Amino acid sequence: MIGFIGLGLMGSRMARNLLESGYELIVHNRTKEKAAPLLEAGAKWANSPKEAAEQADVLFTMLAHPKAVEAAAFGENGFLHHLSPEKLWVDCSTVDPSFTRQMAEEARKRGIHFLDAPVSGSVIPAEKGELVFFVGGDPKDLKKVEPVECHGESDPLSRRKWQRNSHEACRESNARSFNGSFRGGCCA
Ligand SMILES: NC(=O)c1ccc[n+]([C@@H]2O[C@H](COP(=O)([O-])OP(=O)(O)OC[C@H]3O[C@@H](n4cnc5c(N)ncnc54)[C@H](OP(=O)(O)O)[C@@H]3O)[C@@H](O)[C@H]2O)c1
Repeated sequence: MIGFIGLGLMGSRMARNLLESGYELIVHNRTKEKAAPLLEAGAKWANSPKEAAEQADVLFTMLAHPKAVEAAAFGENGFLHHLSPEKLWVDCSTVDPSFTRQMAEEARKRGIHFLDAPVSGSVIPAEKGELVFFVGGDPKDLKKVEPVECHGESDPLSRRKWQRNSHEACRESNARSFNGSFRGGCCA
């Protein structure tokens, strides 16, 4: 089960692509109304970030800014205390490196795997599954969510481009098109 928190302009599109690719999805958004189209399309609603965390194997967040991530992670019924050890949190929100380092440490302390995965692209690329993700974290964790060609997409891995990034929290990082991932395959 994939959990998705943050159904704004970007998150709603990304979540829809996952759903349309056949993944079971549990979603949460501060404003529930924004989840309605996804719920109609088959996503499950979580009443809180906690509830999403309890059911998800991999949890994506796509939130406005660090304060929003903090609220979802540590606020009342926040998700971080409720993701079991070994589960994976992928934060796609655009936040500053020091905040990401802090989140990586908070996750590490709890045995939770963490990927920092902000995106380049806007609403249309998000809709088309053409966002570029700048991913930082353990390559083994990235493997769990990397694009696959199981949905008939062209192989996005052929366009892989490794590069260093400045987030000290990341042992390795890469820029990669998730053309397959948020359209086709995010493998948990
Ligand atoms: N839009 C773009 O073209 C674009 C491109 C690249 C990267 N990004 C980045 O992607 C992220 C999401 O962008 P977006 O365009 O999807 O933004 P958005 O439409 O404004 O959505 C923001 C999301 O954050 C939630 N949120 C805001 N404050 C919160 C709080 N205090 N507690 C809990 N949730 C809160 C919102 O919940 P509500 O629905 O309840 O308000 C919504 O789910 C941002 O970090 C942005 O910088 C955006």
